Amino acid sequence: MTSIVVGLIGVGRIGAMHAANLLATSGDDVELVVADVDAARAERVAAALGCEAASSVDALFARRPHGIVIAVGTSHHAPLILRAIDAGIPVFCEKPVAESTAASQPVLEAVERTGAVVQIGHQRRLDAGHLEAKRAYGAGELGWLHTIRAVTADSFPPPVEFIAASGGLFRDCSVHDFDSLQWLTGQRIVEVMARGSNNGDPAIAAVGDVDSATALAVFEDGTIAAVSATRYNGAGHDVRLELQGSLASLHVGLDASYSARSAEPHFEYPAATPHRTFHDRFAAAYREEMRAFVRLVREQGPNPCTVAEAIDASRVADAAQLSLTTGVAQQVQR
Ligand SMILES: NC(=O)c1ccc[n+]([C@@H]2O[C@H](COP(=O)([O-])OP(=O)(O)OC[C@H]3O[C@@H](n4cnc5c(N)ncnc54)[C@H](O)[C@@H]3O)[C@@H](O)[C@H]2O)c1
Repeated sequence: MTSIVVGLIGVGRIGAMHAANLLATSGDDVELVVADVDAARAERVAAALGCEAASSVDALFARRPHGIVIAVGTSHHAPLILRAIDAGIPVFCEKPVAESTAASQPVLEAVERTGAVVQIGHQRRLDAGHLEAKRAYGAGELGWLHTIRAVTADSFPPPVEFIAASGGLFRDCSVHDFDSLQWLTGQRIVEVMARGSNNGDPAIAAVGDVDSATALAVFEDGTIAAVSATRYNGAGHDVRLELQGSLASLHVGLDASYSARSAEPHFEYPAATPHRTFHDRFAAAYREEMRAFVRLVREQGPNPCTVAEAIDASRVADAAQLSLTTGVAQQVQR
């Protein structure tokens, strides 16, 4: 297979991981070039991985890569996606599309106008457990769902500066649950009622966010999901989706590294060390995400998550954030 050049912009927490995964999953089929506003960081990551560093984002675009991965802070997503679309280059961009639904709109318009290829990083769509849940539900094995619980629980908070710029707990964390629930059931969430609490570091409240929250999300057919998130699940990183149906129940995330222990006597579960971060909980899904992007660039596979789908999940998160601040249930604005 002829090799392709992939440019990756932003080698921070998640970008450095995507860079390593691109090389690990594609071998000689991908030539990787990385760039960062912090050029020294790009040099360091490139040296560690044995790939090329571009001296700037402009220099990376000048290499005319076949695909571009964007893993910079959220407020820089939209301008870089639009630049890649203008250059006719397929894009993978981390979620969310932009810092707000309004700021995402020019990206959606550009995609619809040009037919540009843009994959958004909702990695749960490539996670084995979530895929099995989608298959089982779609095949009718669970019957109709009477109870849905989704949990995104970080084991420790990210830096407060990150939280301040994140758009809030529902936009930063639960947006993954809103996306996976809509993708998995094929139904849209139409109404949300949310509450939050602050019992951790007061700095989180000081920047206007909550450290824990739950949203009741109502689907088109009236089914209700409880969607919870926290920054303080000290036992481990816990991403779980419980689907309880009229015929059968299925839990995603109930693996050997599940972070809760059973209160029942003489029952040792789980066996392994709990996941600490999203990196280890979704290690395989992140690798699949980069494989899927390379296939997309080669026009050999589907787009796992489009801009329109990601924006729709962001609209649910917007409604949850608004409900949190107003205390009133909110319709999802579409
Ligand atoms: N899908 C997931 O599970 C997941 C998990 C974590 C983060 N994210 C998303 O990934 C994005 C990055 O998050 P992170 O935690 O890696 O952030 P980070 O701050 O650790 O890394 C961002 C990197 O981008 C660089 N950068 C910033 N602006 C730039 C620009 N204009 N041009 C070039 N480089 C630039 C920074 O120097 C830094 O190295 C965020 O949008 C976040 O929402 C997604």
